[in-house]
Amino acid sequence: MCGIVGFTGKTQAVGFLLDGLERLEYRGYDSAGIAVLDGGLKIEKTTERIKNLMDKTDNGKNVSGTIGIGHTRWATHGVPSFENAHPHTSSDKKFAVVHNGIIENYIQLREELKADGVEFVSETDTEVVPQLLSKYYEGDFFAAVAKTIARLEGSYALGILCTDCPNTLIAVRKFSPLIIGLSDNANYIASDVTAIVSHTKDIMYIEDGEIAVLTPDGVKLYDSDKNEINREPSVIDWDISAAEKGGYDHFMMKEIMEQPNAVKQTVDSRIKGREIVFEGLKLDEAKLKTIERIDIIACGSAYHAGMVGKYVFEELLRIPTNVDLASEYRYRNPITNDKTLTIIISQSGETADTLAALKEAKRLGSHTLSIVNVVGSSIANASDDVIYTWAGPEIAVATTKGYTTQLSVLYMIAVWAARLLKSADSKRIERLFDELCRLPELIEKVILEEPKIKEMAKKCGDPKSLFFIGRNIDYAVALEASLKLKEISYIHSEAYAAGELKHGTISLIEEGRTVIALASFEELFDKLLSNVKEVKARGAKVIACATEGHTEIAGEAEEVIYIPKTDPLLIAALEVVPFQIYSYYVALYKGCDIDKPRNLAKSVTVE
Ligand code: G6P
Repeated sequence: MCGIVGFTGKTQAVGFLLDGLERLEYRGYDSAGIAVLDGGLKIEKTTERIKNLMDKTDNGKNVSGTIGIGHTRWATHGVPSFENAHPHTSSDKKFAVVHNGIIENYIQLREELKADGVEFVSETDTEVVPQLLSKYYEGDFFAAVAKTIARLEGSYALGILCTDCPNTLIAVRKFSPLIIGLSDNANYIASDVTAIVSHTKDIMYIEDGEIAVLTPDGVKLYDSDKNEINREPSVIDWDISAAEKGGYDHFMMKEIMEQPNAVKQTVDSRIKGREIVFEGLKLDEAKLKTIERIDIIACGSAYHAGMVGKYVFEELLRIPTNVDLASEYRYRNPITNDKTLTIIISQSGETADTLAALKEAKRLGSHTLSIVNVVGSSIANASDDVIYTWAGPEIAVATTKGYTTQLSVLYMIAVWAARLLKSADSKRIERLFDELCRLPELIEKVILEEPKIKEMAKKCGDPKSLFFIGRNIDYAVALEASLKLKEISYIHSEAYAAGELKHGTISLIEEGRTVIALASFEELFDKLLSNVKEVKARGAKVIACATEGHTEIAGEAEEVIYIPKTDPLLIAALEVVPFQIYSYYVALYKGCDIDKPRNLAKSVTVE
C-alpha cells in the first residue's frame, strides 16, 4: 500500500515525481503529495488523485528543484485529508518524509515527543519520524536517520530530505518494499520498478535495515551497523510498455488479454523437452519424498488460486493439503514441521500477512516455497525456494493474469511432483502435461467469447445481490469470480459450494435473483445441474458456464458460456476468464473506477 518515490539529480525533480506517482497510484489513492528542496522545502498536496496534483502545479512547471520525494497514500492512521497526506515535516521544517508501512510504537513516540513540546499537525503514525529526526539532528543527517530508525518498531520504507543537505536523499526500509534506480544524471527511489523503468533499467535492491544515501553522483549503501556495503546493480529486463495501457482503456482489460502470453511465459520457461525443470530448487526428490502435508498460504485471489491447488494436489499427489488465509495462519499457533511443504502464493511478494505467515512457517521448520510475480520481493527473498510467475507487471488492483499464472505454477508443481512420487496414473499425468502446454491457446479461445460476455454484462444492470455456485474446482473458481465482481462493480456477490445451498443459503434465492452456475467440472456436472434446477424452481435467473458438449444446461440457463474441453483439473485457468471479462463490463456499465476500486490497494503491505 502507499507508493513512494524520490529523486536527486542534475535535472528538475518534479517530472519524475509526478510521473512516478501516477504509475504507483494503484498502490493507494486516498491523497498524494510531493516535497521538493530548492532553498527551503516546497510542499504540494492533494486529497484527490495525482491528476489534481499535476493541475495544481501546472504539470510541475511551478515547482523547481533537483531533489524531491513523493507519496500516494492508502490511509491507515487518520482519514484521507490534507493534514494526513504525506510528505510530513518536522516542526522546524528541516526534514520532510514520505513513508509506506506502519510505525507500530508511534503512540509511545508521539507522547514522548509531545512531552518535549512538539506539536503534531496530523493523526498519522508517520509524523513521529520527521519529529524524531529533528530531535536527534546535530548537524549530521546520516547519524540522525540512524538514531531515528533505531527507535522505530513496525514496517517502513522511508524517503527523507534534510534542508541542510540540498543534494542528499536518504532511504531506508524494513518490511516494506523499496528499490533504487541508478543513472548518470539522477538516482531514484521507488516502491516498485514501474515508477523507474522509463528512466533507467539499472536498479539496486535494498534490504531490511539498510540505509541508502543518494546524491546526483552516486548511491552509497550501509548496513545497520553503518558499514558500507558493496552491492552490484541488477538490470530489469522488461520494457516500459509492459506498464502502460497499450491502447486499452484500462489496465484490467489489457491484463486479461495478456493472459495467454503470461501463462505461456510462465510454463514454457520451465519446460525442457517433456521435463518440467525448476532451476535451483532446493526441494529435490529426496526432500519431496519426506513431505507428509502441504499447507498453502495466501491472501485474496492468491488464496483462491491456493484453493484450486488443494484439489489438484490431493488428486494427483495424494498428500493432504490445507489452504490458509495468511492473516489467520500467522496468529493461530499453526502446527507444522519439516515434513510439511508450505507453499506461499503472492503476486506482489510484499503482502504483509503473507510475509509474516511465511516467516512463522519457516521458524517452525517447514520447507517454504513461494510463488511470486515480483523478482527480488520480500517474500521471494525470505523463502527457501521461489518459483516466479512470469506475468509481467500487473497494475490493475483486481488481479487477472497474476491469478492464472499462479494456477499455472501450481499445475506445474503438481505434474512435476506426481512424476517423481509416481502418485497418479502415468498416462493421465502425461496427458495433463500435454494439456498444460496447450493452456495458452485454450485461454485464447475463451477470450474470443468476449463480445458475447459483454452483451451478457450489459443485461446484468445493478442487482442488489448475485450468487455464484460450483462444486470442486468450480467452487474454487466461484470464489475468485465472485471476488472479481464485487471488488470492481461493488455489487454484493457470494460464492457457495453448490452442495451447501440447501443448508441455509437457498433462503436467499428469490424471484429474479441471478445465480451464476459454474458447471465445467464434468464429473459433477449432473449434480450441479440438479442445483441449477433447485434455484430455478425458486425464481432464480441462471447464467451457466460449462465445457463444450454439455448442451443440456442450455435448457435451464438463460445464457451459457462454453469453455474448451481439457483435463478437469485445468478448467480453473479457463473458467475464470469469462468472469473476469464479465466483471469488467458490469463495472464499466455501472461507471466504476475499474483499475482503482474504492478502498482497495494493489499491494497490501500493512497488516
Ligand atoms: C490485494 C489485491 C488482490 C490480491 C491480494 C493478495 O487485496 O487487491 O488482488 O489478490 O492483495 O496480494 P498478493 O500480492 O499477495 O497476491
